[in-house]
Amino acid sequence: MKIRILLSIVGLGFLAACSAGSGNNLDTQEEKIRQMISEMTLEEKIGQMQQVNDGFFGDDEATKQAIREGKVGSFLNMIEPDRIAEFQKVAIEESKHGIPLLFGRDVIHGFRTIFPIPLGMASSWEPELAEKAMRIAAIEASSMGINWTFAPMMDVSWDPRWGRIAEGCGEDPLLTSEFAVAMVKGFQGDLNDPTAVAACAKHYVGYGMSEAGRDYNTTYIPEPLLRNVHLRPFKAAADAGALTFMSAFNDLNGVPTSGNEFTLKTILRDEWGYKGMVVSDWGSIEEMINHGFAADKKQAAGIAVKAGVDMEMATTCYADNLAQLIKDGAISEEQINDRVANIIRVKMEMGLFKKPYNSFVSADTILAPSHLEMSREVARKSMVLLKNNNSTLPLSKNIRSLAVIGPLADAGRDQLGTWIFDGNGDDSTTPKQAFGEILGSRMNYVDGLEYSRDKSTKGFAQAIAAAKNSDAVLFFAGEESILSGEANARGIIDLPGIQTELIAELKKTGKPLILVVMAGRPLGIGAEMDMADAVLYAWHPGTMAGPAVADLIFGDFSPSGKLPVTFVKGAGQIPFYYYRKNTGRPATENDVVYIDDIPRDSKQLSLGFKSMHIDYGVTPLLPFGFGLSYTEFKYENLKLSSGEMSKDGSITLSADIRNVGNFEAEEIVQLYVHDKVGSITRPIKELKGFKKINLKPGDKTTVNFDLNAKDLQFFNGDAYVIEPGDFEVWIGPNSDEGLKGTFVLK
Ligand code: GLC
Repeated sequence: MKIRILLSIVGLGFLAACSAGSGNNLDTQEEKIRQMISEMTLEEKIGQMQQVNDGFFGDDEATKQAIREGKVGSFLNMIEPDRIAEFQKVAIEESKHGIPLLFGRDVIHGFRTIFPIPLGMASSWEPELAEKAMRIAAIEASSMGINWTFAPMMDVSWDPRWGRIAEGCGEDPLLTSEFAVAMVKGFQGDLNDPTAVAACAKHYVGYGMSEAGRDYNTTYIPEPLLRNVHLRPFKAAADAGALTFMSAFNDLNGVPTSGNEFTLKTILRDEWGYKGMVVSDWGSIEEMINHGFAADKKQAAGIAVKAGVDMEMATTCYADNLAQLIKDGAISEEQINDRVANIIRVKMEMGLFKKPYNSFVSADTILAPSHLEMSREVARKSMVLLKNNNSTLPLSKNIRSLAVIGPLADAGRDQLGTWIFDGNGDDSTTPKQAFGEILGSRMNYVDGLEYSRDKSTKGFAQAIAAAKNSDAVLFFAGEESILSGEANARGIIDLPGIQTELIAELKKTGKPLILVVMAGRPLGIGAEMDMADAVLYAWHPGTMAGPAVADLIFGDFSPSGKLPVTFVKGAGQIPFYYYRKNTGRPATENDVVYIDDIPRDSKQLSLGFKSMHIDYGVTPLLPFGFGLSYTEFKYENLKLSSGEMSKDGSITLSADIRNVGNFEAEEIVQLYVHDKVGSITRPIKELKGFKKINLKPGDKTTVNFDLNAKDLQFFNGDAYVIEPGDFEVWIGPNSDEGLKGTFVLK
């Protein structure tokens, strides 16, 4: 049944302003904006700078009155299409200037059809897939009247203790940038289309470096690291046309990012020429008081407005203080005009003044079969095969009996992951449901544990019995969704509860043991990996987790995902990222004297005078870019078009990849570069390209990468430079291995 709410709203107030300016030649958007601002009172301008949560003004009548009086520029967390349409109509037809409202919502990895968490989507290394997914999210969200999402989040992070690592695309700036651009394009699509939703590049900037992974915490990021890593995805998003940015909570080198002129003005506006709008993160302007960077809301308002935050989310530092700050001469009305111009520009770019506001809610839009199918495909491609000893996987659908066990085998809400405001666990197809549909009575399902943190062994006996009566065991381990996401930092990144103990008991049955891990972060699962015959890392895969896992377990498709973040052996190894520096005393595994191997009466002063841990060693659990498939790919014939590159030139690198196994599969071919000597120390490797290929057994293909001198540019603390010298390159399956070559940049 279609409920078609068709509202044709034309910006009457705006058009009136234009026609009234008959003597002026308002032929450019900027002139129109300036004209409109010139006709606004200071209170109306300040009103545009306020975003409030639904209910802020009281009941709907009070809300409408506030809109008529121009006290608000945007709402967040209002999702009823009829109320949104009604309020929009009031804004455009009953307020003095007819300025439309933005309706914001956290549509992070899906609206009702939920896709894998972004860290999972990044594991597909297929940005195009994320673009399709976010386009679906925009179609569903806009059908409810939402026209602004607070996504994509593009905070680079090395720290699995940080709960919001789930919401980003991992540790690499290039991979994160590609996904950020794809998601911006997915959300915004064609801005003239009613399904367009303004994207929001967040959290600007450096939030992923919060100390010890404790959310909202201090970040110290030297400018080379800030520019060579953390700013890159935001620059890519700005260049891709992201209409909005969100400033963050973190204190960056002593200056909170919601009051940071260096990042918000010098870089974003002066260097990049960004013309979009910056919104604060919930209360982050007022939180400058907690940071000890402002004495009160008035000072906080002045700092933020000068730095360049255009709109305040949720708190009222601006509404309560900007007029007085102007009277005090602390800020100028021109500064207010600049902020308001950014806001109105976004609303014009969105076409909100002109296009008819068509919104319809229909079963065809929400959870459409094509949306669910896309969610299933994205989930399949986001899962990473970490281990598959003796080709334990794939299983046959004709298996006599399969034990399906674990706290996440039938957790419809948890499989959706963090940051789903409108997703519903009841929409989920869980692994228990999916495997039950395929196997019927040949599935022996036992939860074994009621939830991931369960510490009761009361379900163990039944689980062990189910395993003994089956030909193989599928154990769904991991974290409930609440254990990752905003503010949900974990100092210990192991499997919660007593899952490990149950896995050990299942191992004792001697049956093939397959772990499927659902989590919002890289977990320290070394011990569990040792016990299992096969491990599939599923992240939190979304609405269609069950069918997607079944597709891979039974070999309808081969797993193809690769890790977008390093897996550490334990929290003590953090930070560990692949583009680390070589140090003055680099160690290899051969240098490590492990703690248990040290002679009891050792009198040595040191175990080697090299950079390592004597318990963790020098390698992570799993390297960035790692992922297996059901086949084997052989890399051969690395070729460089030249051994030399000029400072404005490029070279082409290629390698042959052959499927030497028995299964058709996709492979993500990666290009890494090492700048051996620089004016600052350089990473031992940097991802400079990646391509996904699909090969049938026996097939071979040649993958080419064009590497330009510009790709070798970096910020050395003083300037962006391209420095001549020796470079190493690799084309390979992950950050740890590959065919190696060298070239010289002249
Ligand atoms: C939150 C988050 C931000 C989100 C905003 C609105 O605190 O930090 O990512 O978009 O508030 O919900």
